[in-house]
Amino acid sequence: MADATDNPQTSKKPLLTDINTLRERARAHLRDGAVTQGYRGDREKVISLLNEALATEIVCTLRYRYHYYMASGINAKSIAAEFLEHANEEQAHSDLLAKRITQLGGKPNFNPEGLTTRSHAEYVEGDSLVEMIEENLVAERIAIDSYREAVQYIGDDDPTSRRVLEDILAQEEEHAEDLGTMLEDLGRKGEPSEVALKAAKKR
Ligand SMILES: [Fe+2]
Ligand SMILES: [Fe+2]
Repeated sequence: MADATDNPQTSKKPLLTDINTLRERARAHLRDGAVTQGYRGDREKVISLLNEALATEIVCTLRYRYHYYMASGINAKSIAAEFLEHANEEQAHSDLLAKRITQLGGKPNFNPEGLTTRSHAEYVEGDSLVEMIEENLVAERIAIDSYREAVQYIGDDDPTSRRVLEDILAQEEEHAEDLGTMLEDLGRKGEPSEVALKAAKKR
Protein backbone atom coordinates (compact mmCIF):
# COMPACT_ATOMS: atom_id res chain seq x y z
CA MET A 1 0.00 0.00 0.00
CA ALA A 2 1.51 3.32 -1.00
CA ASP A 3 1.55 6.19 1.40
CA ALA A 4 3.47 9.39 1.90
CA THR A 5 6.28 7.59 3.73
CA ASP A 6 7.42 5.45 0.83
CA ASN A 7 6.75 8.03 -1.81
CA PRO A 8 9.73 9.85 -3.39
CA GLN A 9 7.46 12.83 -3.92
CA THR A 10 7.73 13.76 -0.24
CA SER A 11 11.09 15.48 -0.72
CA LYS A 12 10.94 19.27 -0.85
CA LYS A 13 10.45 20.44 -4.43
CA PRO A 14 10.56 23.90 -5.94
CA LEU A 15 7.16 25.29 -6.90
CA LEU A 16 7.81 24.95 -10.60
CA THR A 17 9.29 21.73 -11.87
CA ASP A 18 10.08 21.13 -15.52
CA ILE A 19 7.74 18.90 -17.49
CA ASN A 20 10.20 16.01 -17.80
CA THR A 21 10.67 15.79 -14.03
CA LEU A 22 6.92 16.05 -13.49
CA ARG A 23 6.26 13.28 -15.96
CA GLU A 24 8.99 11.10 -14.53
CA ARG A 25 7.55 11.57 -11.06
CA ALA A 26 4.08 10.71 -12.35
CA ARG A 27 5.38 7.49 -13.82
CA ALA A 28 7.61 6.43 -10.93
CA HIS A 29 4.92 4.64 -8.97
CA LEU A 30 3.54 2.79 -11.97
CA ARG A 31 6.99 1.66 -13.04
CA ASP A 32 7.50 0.05 -9.63
CA GLY A 33 4.40 -2.02 -10.12
CA ALA A 34 5.03 -2.94 -13.72
CA VAL A 35 8.46 -4.47 -13.09
CA THR A 36 7.06 -7.04 -10.67
CA GLN A 37 4.86 -9.52 -12.48
CA GLY A 38 3.26 -10.63 -9.20
CA TYR A 39 1.71 -7.18 -8.72
CA ARG A 40 -0.31 -7.29 -11.94
CA GLY A 41 -4.03 -7.16 -11.25
CA ASP A 42 -3.38 -6.83 -7.54
CA ARG A 43 -6.45 -5.27 -5.94
CA GLU A 44 -4.51 -3.21 -3.41
CA LYS A 45 -2.26 -1.91 -6.17
CA VAL A 46 -5.23 -0.91 -8.33
CA ILE A 47 -6.84 0.85 -5.36
CA SER A 48 -3.61 2.72 -4.66
CA LEU A 49 -3.36 3.70 -8.32
CA LEU A 50 -6.97 4.92 -8.31
CA ASN A 51 -6.28 6.90 -5.12
CA GLU A 52 -3.34 8.66 -6.77
CA ALA A 53 -5.64 9.56 -9.65
CA LEU A 54 -8.24 10.76 -7.13
CA ALA A 55 -5.67 13.07 -5.48
CA THR A 56 -4.74 14.40 -8.94
CA GLU A 57 -8.39 15.13 -9.74
CA ILE A 58 -8.95 16.94 -6.42
CA VAL A 59 -5.86 19.12 -6.97
CA CYS A 60 -6.99 19.84 -10.56
CA THR A 61 -10.48 20.76 -9.35
CA LEU A 62 -9.03 23.21 -6.83
CA ARG A 63 -6.60 24.73 -9.32
CA TYR A 64 -9.25 25.24 -12.01
CA ARG A 65 -11.65 26.69 -9.46
CA TYR A 66 -8.98 29.13 -8.24
CA HIS A 67 -8.32 30.13 -11.85
CA TYR A 68 -12.04 30.61 -12.44
CA TYR A 69 -12.18 33.21 -9.67
CA MET A 70 -8.86 34.83 -10.55
CA ALA A 71 -9.17 35.10 -14.33
CA SER A 72 -9.34 38.73 -15.35
CA GLY A 73 -8.62 40.77 -18.48
CA ILE A 74 -10.05 41.28 -21.96
CA ASN A 75 -10.44 37.61 -22.84
CA ALA A 76 -11.19 36.47 -19.33
CA LYS A 77 -14.93 35.88 -19.44
CA SER A 78 -15.03 32.96 -21.86
CA ILE A 79 -11.81 31.51 -20.46
CA ALA A 80 -13.11 31.72 -16.88
CA ALA A 81 -16.25 29.90 -17.99
CA GLU A 82 -14.09 27.18 -19.49
CA PHE A 83 -12.06 26.92 -16.26
CA LEU A 84 -15.28 26.44 -14.30
CA GLU A 85 -16.49 23.77 -16.70
CA HIS A 86 -13.19 21.91 -16.37
CA ALA A 87 -13.31 22.27 -12.56
CA ASN A 88 -16.72 20.63 -12.49
CA GLU A 89 -15.61 17.84 -14.83
CA GLU A 90 -12.53 17.13 -12.69
CA GLN A 91 -14.89 16.94 -9.70
CA ALA A 92 -16.99 14.40 -11.58
CA HIS A 93 -13.84 12.39 -12.29
CA SER A 94 -13.09 12.34 -8.54
CA ASP A 95 -16.54 10.90 -7.93
CA LEU A 96 -16.09 8.17 -10.55
CA LEU A 97 -12.74 7.17 -9.04
CA ALA A 98 -14.04 7.23 -5.45
CA LYS A 99 -16.98 5.08 -6.47
CA ARG A 100 -14.72 2.53 -8.14
CA ILE A 101 -12.35 2.47 -5.13
CA THR A 102 -15.23 1.59 -2.82
CA GLN A 103 -16.47 -1.06 -5.28
CA LEU A 104 -13.07 -2.69 -4.95
CA GLY A 105 -13.36 -2.64 -1.18
CA GLY A 106 -10.95 0.26 -0.71
CA LYS A 107 -11.25 3.64 0.93
CA PRO A 108 -11.15 6.76 -1.24
CA ASN A 109 -8.45 9.00 0.22
CA PHE A 110 -9.93 12.49 0.59
CA ASN A 111 -7.52 13.44 3.36
CA PRO A 112 -6.26 16.98 2.69
CA GLU A 113 -3.02 16.07 4.45
CA GLY A 114 -0.48 14.96 1.86
CA LEU A 115 -2.88 15.69 -1.00
CA THR A 116 -0.36 17.55 -3.14
CA THR A 117 2.20 14.81 -2.51
CA ARG A 118 -0.19 12.09 -3.67
CA SER A 119 -1.27 14.08 -6.72
CA HIS A 120 0.58 13.67 -9.99
CA ALA A 121 -0.24 17.21 -11.10
CA GLU A 122 0.76 20.30 -9.13
CA TYR A 123 -1.24 23.16 -7.71
CA VAL A 124 0.27 26.20 -9.41
CA GLU A 125 -1.60 29.49 -9.28
CA GLY A 126 0.01 31.37 -12.18
CA ASP A 127 0.16 35.16 -12.40
CA SER A 128 -1.41 35.90 -15.77
CA LEU A 129 -4.23 34.44 -17.84
CA VAL A 130 -1.70 32.87 -20.22
CA GLU A 131 0.24 31.40 -17.34
CA MET A 132 -2.94 29.93 -15.85
CA ILE A 133 -3.81 28.28 -19.16
CA GLU A 134 -0.28 26.97 -19.52
CA GLU A 135 -0.21 25.55 -15.99
CA ASN A 136 -3.50 23.79 -16.64
CA LEU A 137 -2.13 22.42 -19.89
CA VAL A 138 0.95 21.08 -18.08
CA ALA A 139 -1.33 19.38 -15.54
CA GLU A 140 -3.59 17.92 -18.24
CA ARG A 141 -0.61 16.51 -20.11
CA ILE A 142 0.62 14.87 -16.92
CA ALA A 143 -2.87 13.46 -16.31
CA ILE A 144 -3.06 12.16 -19.89
CA ASP A 145 0.27 10.36 -19.55
CA SER A 146 -0.50 8.85 -16.17
CA TYR A 147 -4.02 7.72 -17.16
CA ARG A 148 -2.67 6.15 -20.34
CA GLU A 149 -0.07 4.27 -18.34
CA ALA A 150 -2.61 3.23 -15.73
CA VAL A 151 -4.83 1.81 -18.51
CA GLN A 152 -1.86 -0.10 -19.91
CA TYR A 153 -0.89 -1.33 -16.46
CA ILE A 154 -4.37 -2.67 -15.70
CA GLY A 155 -4.66 -4.26 -19.14
CA ASP A 156 -7.32 -6.99 -19.11
CA ASP A 157 -7.03 -7.65 -15.37
CA ASP A 158 -9.80 -5.27 -14.30
CA PRO A 159 -12.00 -4.18 -17.24
CA THR A 160 -14.26 -1.97 -15.11
CA SER A 161 -11.45 0.09 -13.58
CA ARG A 162 -9.90 0.27 -17.01
CA ARG A 163 -13.11 1.61 -18.55
CA VAL A 164 -13.39 4.28 -15.84
CA LEU A 165 -9.79 5.36 -16.50
CA GLU A 166 -10.28 5.31 -20.29
CA ASP A 167 -13.39 7.51 -20.06
CA ILE A 168 -11.55 10.00 -17.87
CA LEU A 169 -8.52 9.91 -20.18
CA ALA A 170 -10.70 10.83 -23.16
CA GLN A 171 -12.03 13.86 -21.30
CA GLU A 172 -8.53 14.96 -20.20
CA GLU A 173 -7.54 14.92 -23.86
CA GLU A 174 -10.50 17.17 -24.63
CA HIS A 175 -9.41 19.51 -21.83
CA ALA A 176 -5.88 19.70 -23.22
CA GLU A 177 -7.28 20.44 -26.66
CA ASP A 178 -9.51 23.21 -25.23
CA LEU A 179 -6.52 24.81 -23.51
CA GLY A 180 -4.47 24.62 -26.72
CA THR A 181 -7.29 26.39 -28.54
CA MET A 182 -7.40 29.07 -25.82
CA LEU A 183 -3.69 29.78 -26.30
CA GLU A 184 -4.26 29.90 -30.05
CA ASP A 185 -7.13 32.36 -29.61
CA LEU A 186 -4.89 34.55 -27.48
CA GLY A 187 -2.32 34.43 -30.28
CA ARG A 188 0.17 32.73 -27.98
CA LYS A 189 0.74 29.51 -29.84
CA GLY A 190 4.32 29.22 -31.07
CA GLU A 191 5.52 31.93 -28.69
CA PRO A 192 7.85 30.97 -25.85
CA SER A 193 5.78 29.78 -22.93
CA GLU A 194 5.54 32.07 -19.89
CA VAL A 195 5.77 29.07 -17.61
CA ALA A 196 8.98 27.84 -19.27
CA LEU A 197 10.52 31.34 -19.24
CA LYS A 198 9.73 31.75 -15.56
CA ALA A 199 11.16 28.33 -14.74
CA ALA A 200 14.33 29.14 -16.71
CA LYS A 201 14.75 32.41 -14.78
CA LYS A 202 14.54 30.58 -11.47
CA ARG A 203 17.29 28.15 -12.42
FE1 LIG B 1 -9.89 14.90 -14.59
FE1 LIG C 1 -8.73 17.65 -17.09
